[in-house]
Amino acid sequence: MPPIYTSSTFIQESPGVHKGYEYSRSHNATRFAFERCIADLESSGLTEAQDRTCGGFAFASGLAAIGTCLELLDAGATVLCMDDVYGGTNRLLQRVRKRSQGLQVTFADLGSAESLERAVAAARPAMIWAETPSNPTLKIVDVQALARLGHACGAITVVDNTFASPMLQRPLEHGIDIVMHSATKYLGGHSDVVGGCLVTSRPQLAERLRFMQNAIGSVLGPFDAYLALRGVKTLAVRMHRHCTSALQIARHLESHPAVKQVVYPGLPSHPHHALAARQMRLAGEPAFGGMITVHLRGGIAESRRFLERVRIFALAESLGGVESLIEHPAIMTHASVPADERAKLGISDSLVRLSVGIEAVTDLIEDLDQALR
Ligand SMILES: Cc1ncc(COP(=O)(O)O)c(C=O)c1O
Repeated sequence: MPPIYTSSTFIQESPGVHKGYEYSRSHNATRFAFERCIADLESSGLTEAQDRTCGGFAFASGLAAIGTCLELLDAGATVLCMDDVYGGTNRLLQRVRKRSQGLQVTFADLGSAESLERAVAAARPAMIWAETPSNPTLKIVDVQALARLGHACGAITVVDNTFASPMLQRPLEHGIDIVMHSATKYLGGHSDVVGGCLVTSRPQLAERLRFMQNAIGSVLGPFDAYLALRGVKTLAVRMHRHCTSALQIARHLESHPAVKQVVYPGLPSHPHHALAARQMRLAGEPAFGGMITVHLRGGIAESRRFLERVRIFALAESLGGVESLIEHPAIMTHASVPADERAKLGISDSLVRLSVGIEAVTDLIEDLDQALR
């Protein structure tokens, strides 16, 4: 197992002549091990000769990774962002980078081929930011079409791959320029570490990201890199379990009288089910992830009661851990999205989001049933 290298600095042979490690913000062997691992999982295709960590970069959080990625843009550049993204991504763009970097931010539904094409043609963006599946309404973006349209207009294409993980989809293989992760979620997998990653297959972008990572300095610490790397070792088995349990729960809830609608890419009722089945695969079979969004019957009072009564599902923000989590996006993860935008996206008071863990699925179903009763 890679050791945890806590050294902040390294002895030099002569002034300016180091032995491969100079200072831990720039070079840390534990972080490097995690960065090479995630680069490999995301199929960066870069060798250590092309980039020291093969195009993988780790940060102190998912948002630190997003913030560093946005620094690739010049002041005043246009960003085309998917309308349904993590609330913190929305907040960083709208409430920080519009002001501090003068970014022109356009939000659009990138979940259908026509709207994607229309939005790219209208915005002529320098960067396109997408999540698939998106958070929390689980829209699916056609990553191949996104890469094609992005390159045609010279934009840097970025996919936040947090919900799918590299086990289910590897956007770089479809021509996307940069993949981003909140490593806090499925990569770490145990709700005990906060981290983020960027991975690229383009040597020039890798060079720029390496400079930015060091220049900005929001790097992942060695203890956290160790934990994230340990989490990744079980990613394949965890994702398999998350996917099979979530599909079973989604089917169960779809016929429950207290539920108005279940949104899960694995259900034929999902508008992008066919695309998801093509794009998201585990060991050659369609696999749709562990996230489910549910519209309950009733309003805020019914949702609140349900969320207070679950016993195995933990009422908490975040996702992707071995323990099942449940939350209310309008009040919790997406409170930073303005109310009118939430309403347009369908993030209502009766919407709850489930992150299905790896517990016995029968226990999870029983728990949801008793809370819904
Ligand atoms: C899809 C997605 N992207 C990015 C982030 C931000 O990551 P972090 O919380 O590690 O900063 C989150 C966090 O919930 C997320 O769900």
